[in-house]
Amino acid sequence: MASNSQPPSQTVGPEYRPAGLKPIATVSTPLSQKNVHILPQTPQLIALLTMIRDRNTGRADFIFYSNRIIRLLVEEGLNHLPVVGQEVSTPVGRSYAGVKFEGKICGVSIMRAGESMEQGLRDCCRSVRIGKILIQRDEETSKPKLYYDKLPEDIADRWVLLLDPMLATGGSALMAIEVLRSRGVPEDRILFLNLIASPEGAKNFADRFPKVRVVTAFVDAGLDEKNWIVPGLGDFGDRFYTM
Ligand code: URA
Repeated sequence: MASNSQPPSQTVGPEYRPAGLKPIATVSTPLSQKNVHILPQTPQLIALLTMIRDRNTGRADFIFYSNRIIRLLVEEGLNHLPVVGQEVSTPVGRSYAGVKFEGKICGVSIMRAGESMEQGLRDCCRSVRIGKILIQRDEETSKPKLYYDKLPEDIADRWVLLLDPMLATGGSALMAIEVLRSRGVPEDRILFLNLIASPEGAKNFADRFPKVRVVTAFVDAGLDEKNWIVPGLGDFGDRFYTM
C-alpha cells in the first residue's frame, strides 16, 4: 500500500549562523530500530542529497555527488568493524597508542545499482574482494528471485558490506541476506550500506534481521503506489549508468 507520511524538517547550516538565517530542509525520518544507523544530517550531506534528488541534475554530476555520499557511508560502515589496540612509534621518538582493524572484509553488491557503490568501497579498502548477487522480480509470482551469485569462497570468515543504494520494499535485500546466511555468514557480521531507504522497507528489514546493521544516509517519507521511494530520486541505476 502506498504511504507518504510527513517527514521532519529542521534548520540546516553551520552552528555560528543564527537559526533565523538558516534554511529549513527536510531531514531523515527517525527510526526506533537500534540496528539502523542514519548518517548525521549535516549541511554537507543534505546538500549532496539535494543534488542527486534534483531531476535536472545530469549524469556526470549525479555520479560525482552519489560517490561522495557513498564514501561517507563506507567510512561510517567501517566504524562498525572491530579494532584491536596498536602501539606505534612516531618519527619524533614517541609512542602512540592507537588501534588497527581486526578481521577480513569483503563487499557484496546487489546488481545492478549496488555495483555503483563498489568503487567507493575500493577507495577506502584497497584490493577488497567483491562478490555479486543478482535478484530480480519473477514475472509470474511477483516475488524476488535469485538469478546469479558469485561470492568469495571464504565469505563465512569475512565481515560483509552489502551494497544497494535504494531500499524500497526490502525484498531484494532480504533475499540477499538469506543467500549470505546460506553461505555461513553470521547475521552480526553483515553491514548493509544504503543511500535512501523507505521507512517501511527499513523497518521490515531491521525487524527481520535485528543483528544486521543498516547504515543509511536518509530514510524518506514513504513509497508510492508503484513502490518508488518518495520523494526519492527516481531509478538510481538508470541515473548512474544510462541516462
Ligand atoms: N529503486 C530505485 O532505484 N528507486 C526507487 O525509488 C526504488 C527502488
